[in-house]
Amino acid sequence: MFQNIDLDTIDLLAPIPEGEPLRQYYYIAHLRKWVAEREAELGRKLTYQCRTFGCQMNAKDSEKFAGMLELMGFVASEEKIVDFVLYNTCTVRENANMKVYGHLGVLKTEKKKHPGMMIAICGCMMQEPDEVAKLKKTYRFLDIIFGTHNIFKFPELMYQRVQTGKMVVDVWNGTDMIVEDLPSERKFSFKCGINIAYGCNNFCSYCIVPYVRGRERSRKPEDIIREIKDVVADGVVEIMLLGQNVNSYGKTLENPISFADLLREVEKIEGLERIRFMTSHPKDLSDELIEVMAQSKKICRHFHLPLQSGSTRVLQDMNRRYTKERYLELVEKLRMAMPDIALTTDIIVGYPGETEEDFLDTMDVVDKADYDSAYTFIYSRRTGTPAAAREDQIPEDVVKDRFDRLLALVGEKSRERTDRFEGKTLPVLVEEKNSQLEGYVTGRLEYNTVVHLPGDESLIGKIVNVKLEEARGFYYMGKVEE
Ligand code: SAH
Ligand code: SF4
Ligand code: F3S
Repeated sequence: MFQNIDLDTIDLLAPIPEGEPLRQYYYIAHLRKWVAEREAELGRKLTYQCRTFGCQMNAKDSEKFAGMLELMGFVASEEKIVDFVLYNTCTVRENANMKVYGHLGVLKTEKKKHPGMMIAICGCMMQEPDEVAKLKKTYRFLDIIFGTHNIFKFPELMYQRVQTGKMVVDVWNGTDMIVEDLPSERKFSFKCGINIAYGCNNFCSYCIVPYVRGRERSRKPEDIIREIKDVVADGVVEIMLLGQNVNSYGKTLENPISFADLLREVEKIEGLERIRFMTSHPKDLSDELIEVMAQSKKICRHFHLPLQSGSTRVLQDMNRRYTKERYLELVEKLRMAMPDIALTTDIIVGYPGETEEDFLDTMDVVDKADYDSAYTFIYSRRTGTPAAAREDQIPEDVVKDRFDRLLALVGEKSRERTDRFEGKTLPVLVEEKNSQLEGYVTGRLEYNTVVHLPGDESLIGKIVNVKLEEARGFYYMGKVEE
């Protein structure tokens, strides 16, 4: 890692380095000087905030932005007014976009009151030309607009903004580049996400992700392992391997390697206690992976296996490339190999052309698969995807009715599932202070279920044995077993 690079040794008058990430460290060094000068003028530190929407990928990217900003000399702040705000956007469903526009409306007035404030906006929404055009036209107060393919370039764009005083816009159409060794500032000291692959090649008919995140690119296993070793040496005990389809990891590398093999290597890292991953596409879930998981001491017994729909006809239409029967077969295999496994899923309701019968197939799978929990989404029409062009969109009231029925079944199922560990004592990784209950902390079982227990900050980041005294629907109330 370049984490311990000495920025003072960078010659600010030397020619700009061509290679990455050195080029960006050069700009960070320049900006650090600029931040120091501003600090001297204002007589205080400059503050920043990253506001992150969307999935774990965005959360991970935001940790990289935070790392770069901290190297420049900014300090994190939760205040309403900060010197630098970064919006890392998501566009997977329409309401994700709406949220961002809501925030921007508020920021406009804030910036009028605080003219020195800088606002950057990046992430998946910026990969949509219509959105960028709208921002450029009606949100002139924004300072930097960039996309998902050039996040490493953030220091350079910021430097450009500082130098020119003008709005900087830089969005790439795609990339085959992977820039390693960017700084990173973890949100939690004891857990973090680790990218293993970027982009997606699956083109599910409803989904915008392949268009905004580009083609699938795997990181080299040695880079992944090195990063994990570094974070473990720095106190991390739990990692989440991240990719839109982790099961297809490594297939296009110069020296191909399977996801199962990568997991075998990660397992060997000493000091690492828990391994999670997200997301698995059912079409690529191999027997080898199930075997590696079943034998592992570190891989958490939690599998997130997005269903999307239980109807084979709809699945075919969605371009998911599995059937209802195949999906249930995979569930069966996972449960045979690991009877205690927790399964979770994603489901879309109201996909164009979905009939009552199709929907009942989804309900049937939910009934049979016994999910610990399920994320349920109302289908959202994403411009540019094949499904959005269809004329058989489902009326809102029909979707709402199906959504409510599904939610009720999912809730009932997860309550049943949560009951199963009541009274048992299981290891919990304590994650944070409980924001609602004074004197309590909150953590997770390896099954990902939330547990609240009495305790103080000294427990954060530790794995402790907890007696699960009471199951309360989706979570437990417990107590540390001495
Ligand atoms: N790569 C992951 C999912 C990434 S998006 C996978 O294949 O499972 C996360 C979830 O958002 C998806 O699983 C899907 O359920 C949901 N989603 C994606 N596009 C959507 C859309 N247009 N409308 C509603 N939900 C959508
Ligand atoms: Fe979207 Fe499908 Fe790719 Fe997941 S696998 S990101 S749902 S296109
Ligand atoms: Fe959203 Fe982009 Fe993730 S669209 S779900 S933030 S990959």
